[in-house]
Amino acid sequence: MKRTEIVLVLTVFLSICFTTFASASYAQQRTLLDGVYTDAQVTAGEDVYESSCNACHDLKFYRDMWKVWVDKPLMNFWYTIVAEMPSDNPGSLMDTEYTNILANILSEMGFPSGDTELDPNKGMDQITIVMP
Ligand code: HEC
Repeated sequence: MKRTEIVLVLTVFLSICFTTFASASYAQQRTLLDGVYTDAQVTAGEDVYESSCNACHDLKFYRDMWKVWVDKPLMNFWYTIVAEMPSDNPGSLMDTEYTNILANILSEMGFPSGDTELDPNKGMDQITIVMP
């Protein structure tokens, strides 16, 4: 190969890498309006919410405090619930139960469901909280 050909091949290769990388990282950036939980998670979360949270928080509670969380990653909200709630027994539920409860709250708030399961280990830190 001539020197110019090598440079050309390298340039093409690098631009493909860059495009792939750029679109991959773009795809991970989502907001709550992009359908970040499934209907099945909402159904699974209903009973747990009822028995573990409902006694102290009705839906109005989340609506009133939501603006404090706007522009923050959803992961932060999930961590707060896991670390502090239920206030009489923090951390007492399983991770999946907290995640399903969160799906339930998002659904009640009016955010759309989608095909992708909400998962604290898969990109929840890339989901930005917005107003419904
Ligand atoms: C025994 C009553 C009680 C139960 C049960 C309870 N909470 Fe709370 N929760 C509180 C109190 C008290 C606060 C703090 C005061 C406030 O913000 O009103 C709070 C605060 C919160 C906050 C705001 C945290 C912050 O830092 O902004 C969220 C979100 C929340 N609770 C979600 C939940 C969820 C989800 C459950 C069920 C897993 C739950 N709570 C169960 C009493 C409770």
